[in-house]
Amino acid sequence: MIEEYAIPGASGILEDLTAYAAPDMLRHMVLDFRQMRSFVTDPLVMARAEGIYYWDVYGKRYLDGISGIFVVNVGHGNRRVLNALHEQLERICFAPPLHGTNVPAVELANLLADITPGDLNTIKLLSGGSEATEAAMKLTRQYHRQTGNPGKYKILSLYKGYHGATFGALSATGTAKRKIPFEPTLPGFIKAMPPSCHACPFGLRYPTCGITCVDQIDRIIELEGPETVAAVIMEPISNTGGITTPPPEYLPRLREICDRHGVLLIFDEVITGFGRTGQMFAAQTFEVLPDILCMGKGMGSGYGPLAGLAMRDHVAQAFWGEDGANIEFSHGHTFGGNPLSSAAGVAAIREVLDRDLLANARRIGDHLRARLDELSSLNVITDIRGKGLLIGFGLARDVAKGVPWAAEVRFGQQVARRAMEKGLILRADPDWIALAPPLTITEEEADLLFDLLAESLREEVEARRG
Ligand SMILES: Cc1ncc(COP(=O)(O)O)c(C=O)c1O
Repeated sequence: MIEEYAIPGASGILEDLTAYAAPDMLRHMVLDFRQMRSFVTDPLVMARAEGIYYWDVYGKRYLDGISGIFVVNVGHGNRRVLNALHEQLERICFAPPLHGTNVPAVELANLLADITPGDLNTIKLLSGGSEATEAAMKLTRQYHRQTGNPGKYKILSLYKGYHGATFGALSATGTAKRKIPFEPTLPGFIKAMPPSCHACPFGLRYPTCGITCVDQIDRIIELEGPETVAAVIMEPISNTGGITTPPPEYLPRLREICDRHGVLLIFDEVITGFGRTGQMFAAQTFEVLPDILCMGKGMGSGYGPLAGLAMRDHVAQAFWGEDGANIEFSHGHTFGGNPLSSAAGVAAIREVLDRDLLANARRIGDHLRARLDELSSLNVITDIRGKGLLIGFGLARDVAKGVPWAAEVRFGQQVARRAMEKGLILRADPDWIALAPPLTITEEEADLLFDLLAESLREEVEARRG
């Protein structure tokens, strides 16, 4: 089989790039959450990327409206990050995190301690978002054991949230579709309803609801027994929930509930971190300090597999220990703090800081929101959610009359399919669409993104309404 694809030339690349989209080549792969038989009939194989654009093997250009998948915050082909990687390649590519560390990893940990809010001063470097959430949850269990509360082990999370694909992260995940094929998941995981004001699970309306969704967490912890609950984990803005943005009172009140019950609060900032919401972290956007902050995706901007967690001093203290005390965090992965990924992370974060991409995320985010308002006459956009350059909008058949699209129409995905044909990549569910372009995007580029989106939306509305 291998000989069949013998590669000419020293570069190791077939001369005709379209060969890489041939079903015979693709059938040796399994992609994420994709039915491969359907994928090979309409594949997407990228060959090159620069700025906010990808080019596939046929040379077709795509505007990356979702930063890969909430990853490429500093844009594709970023010169500063590439230079840092080239330099690091010549120095050292691997040093295990088991018995030592390396220069870029130390630099990255110090930089993260600087840019994270409050006393989130101690960093564990990892390679992917699931590793980060998994490690955070394990950390809370060991923390409670070491601080005199060994009975605290339950992890509370939110329905519709996503925390990763490994078993612990999946057990905290609240989207049925992702979990059912693998159930039963782990014991010790409990769930609460999310703060979905656009489709309140309690049938209430903000602000007269009294933020029932957060009071419910208080009640669940009481009913479970606070002496059994270790942590609450949640995304400050949930992607899989539909860019669910909690009302301003929600997170401060959740912080108070966790404090009252001795429960650690974990923010999963795998998507919201590194400038996405217009501040470095959503913890700053919402002005609430978690005990542990999980990071991934935009941390290395896609230039290396990179993730991690930051813990506050009182958590770290439980692991720092007296001389000779055996209380290390009993957890690790071979590639944590990898020198290449760490060098990419340092460069990507400095790029966000030096170019003030946080301000750009706020400015272009406001611009895109204003442009989306121009589509109100279509009567299909229910509301606009999110912060900074993490934008979501709900979709209905008739907003004025409150009529949703029939589920089988999968309206959002039909819009995204049209957009893809036009060369715009979106994240879509049947009844909402998300936009999250690189934080480097200019106003002109944002207008192009908007035009392609608006055209796709209009065409799909016309096709459906006749
Ligand atoms: C909020 C959130 N947490 C965790 C993860 C898991 O990250 P990874 O896919 O890098 O393991 C994801 C991935 O999409 C995510 O969106």
